[in-house]
Amino acid sequence: MNAGEKPRVIAIDGPAASGKSTVALSLSRRLGFRLMDSGSMYRAVALLAVEKEVQLDDENTLFELARSVRADFRLELPPGASPRVFLGDRDVTEAIRSPGVGEAVSPVSVVGGVRKEMVSLQRESVSEDGVVAEGRDIGTVVFSDAPLKVYLDAALEERIDRRYKELTDKGMNITRSSVEKETEMRDTIDSSREHSPLSIAPDAVLIDTTDMSVVEVVEEISKIWNSRQRDR
Ligand code: DC
Repeated sequence: MNAGEKPRVIAIDGPAASGKSTVALSLSRRLGFRLMDSGSMYRAVALLAVEKEVQLDDENTLFELARSVRADFRLELPPGASPRVFLGDRDVTEAIRSPGVGEAVSPVSVVGGVRKEMVSLQRESVSEDGVVAEGRDIGTVVFSDAPLKVYLDAALEERIDRRYKELTDKGMNITRSSVEKETEMRDTIDSSREHSPLSIAPDAVLIDTTDMSVVEVVEEISKIWNSRQRDR
């Protein structure tokens, strides 16, 4: 990338279960861009914290774990299959989606030192091929100069239904009320934390996905991207 050139990044932010991951994956395939799932990076830190029984307010140890995730994290996108997340040689794709990690991840991601390491990891992953990057603070903090920022939202009940279906389809034995509790808790922590809370960038395109299919959302974002490329 030449100096002064904007990174080819499509930044997608939004609350838990707003459809970001599915949309970002599909969009990255359609445009031939790389995928950056920043939530899986925070989840990897939370996984190590849970496994090592680290207290969630032990900021120094959480910072050390974040440093090791920064060194070891890798996301692979096999053609036609779901993305896989690795820490070194270890495949943690399923482990980072467990309910225990789901509960620990928001408290872990409020820690300033953890965020600093994860933001560096995210910025290191930019390439000239283009990146679809999704998370909570991508358009506001990580890539505040992204040429396209999208904020995806959906009604709370719809988001709970989607997450419940996603987890039960994977064979997880959970109740809808536990998914409701976790989604509401994550919304509260993610939006009210001191460092980089979830918020809508002033220049973001807002898309309410409550009554939209993934295909429709991807279509809309691709159209906006293509028209902005033509207008450059
Ligand atoms: O997108 P996700 O549900 O996998 O994200 C898990 C958690 O990670 C989310 O509740 C808050 C945190 N997160 C964050 O703080 N900043 C990001 N850019 C992405 C995720």
